[in-house]
Amino acid sequence: MGDGFTRERAWRLLQDWTTSPSLIKHGLAVEACTRAYGVSEASRLGLSAVDSAEFIELYAIAGLLHDFDYDRYPSLEEHPFVGVKFLREQGWPEPVLHAILAHADYSGTPRESHLDRALFASDELAGFLTACALVKPSKSIHEVEVAGVKKKMKDKAFARAVKREDITEGAALLGLTVEEHIGSCLKAMQDRAEELGLAG
Ligand SMILES: [Fe+2]
Ligand SMILES: [Fe+2]
Repeated sequence: MGDGFTRERAWRLLQDWTTSPSLIKHGLAVEACTRAYGVSEASRLGLSAVDSAEFIELYAIAGLLHDFDYDRYPSLEEHPFVGVKFLREQGWPEPVLHAILAHADYSGTPRESHLDRALFASDELAGFLTACALVKPSKSIHEVEVAGVKKKMKDKAFARAVKREDITEGAALLGLTVEEHIGSCLKAMQDRAEELGLAG
């Protein structure tokens, strides 16, 4: 990534602005999911190794930073607008800013790019998969299965803050079935279970 707008810098920024450990983990979980979609999109586009590394890093940064202002500015008037303004002043890449705005359905920013769609699709699902892991006695995401997640989606009392329609709409935006979308995000989060505190 040119100009030093790296995943590492995004990670430090997230930690600077966020005190809530669960919100930091949420950033990491969404990063895992969006990054996986960046990897598959880069290969679908047939990007060179160098281009694809840069492309994938945009997905990782957008995932990490999409809620980075939420601890300080959680209101609908402020999140994610305050954060995006700050990032824009610093010069972060425009596709990342666009995706962060578009993850909030009240922002008026349409979801256009594949990154916009991947971030929106990953946000609620990452939260839901975390909830699915935390109700396991082991609290391990390795014990979560696609079929169980689908069942829990029908249980209205479970993780009620998570909008089920965002998960199904997200899958459709990516041209995936809900099962494929769940499977892809689940695998991405399982690969980083330790870091997410979901290794059991
Ligand atoms: Fe958000
Ligand atoms: Fe989020």
